[in-house]
Amino acid sequence: MQTMWFDACIFDLDGVIVDTAKYHFLAWKRLADMLDIPFSEKENEKLKGVSRLASLEIILELSGKKYTDSEKAKFAEMKNTWYVEFVSRMTPSEILPGAIELLTDLKSHGIKTAIGSASKNTLLILEKIRIKDLFDTVTDGNMVKSAKPDPEIFLVTASILNVKPEKCIVFEDSVAGIKAAHKAGMYGIGVGNKEILIEADYVINDLSEMSFLKLTALKTINQ
Ligand code: BG6
Ligand code: MG
Repeated sequence: MQTMWFDACIFDLDGVIVDTAKYHFLAWKRLADMLDIPFSEKENEKLKGVSRLASLEIILELSGKKYTDSEKAKFAEMKNTWYVEFVSRMTPSEILPGAIELLTDLKSHGIKTAIGSASKNTLLILEKIRIKDLFDTVTDGNMVKSAKPDPEIFLVTASILNVKPEKCIVFEDSVAGIKAAHKAGMYGIGVGNKEILIEADYVINDLSEMSFLKLTALKTINQ
């Protein structure tokens, strides 16, 4: 097989493979309403890619009040219970456009594929949308100490795949995720809005705009 500039593709889950951002928002909104904290879709943008506890801190800051660690733990637990209720009802119909096609295309060309997600609910979601078999490995929020923009999640994934970081491509919908990819020494493809994902090496609207062939040509385009 011909040598490629990349050997593996690592996919963020929320917002790249499935649109779970809307469920995260609804669950956070319920908590914010309960605590009388003003919270809209605009503030929600800052939570993308950010861990559960860090997201809670961002929301609680909007209240201007102080909360104890045990109150915070209780709030995070409540939000997660509501979020899991939404996620438990998910079906394969919620897989975002182009995801299955791209994963199948990459695998047919011998490229390794992985999930690198901050979410501790990753396995539950993958089970609901029945897509786990298309990934060589799944790294999630239960396996790392530091959240994105720290590169830990992507470095752990590369090491499990036994692929050098510089031969990995990351697909991410969050600013924190693109920063994490770059800190890991990886190529970062933004999935979503060009104006938000300004630091990405390349941006697509969704995975249906990408294929193995297009990826092979990307580095040449950028150089
Ligand atoms: C990320 C999401 O993938 O996972 C964040 O973009 C979320 O919004 C984070 O807070 C943690 O998810 P969970 O499921 O562990 O609460
Ligand atoms: Mg995401």
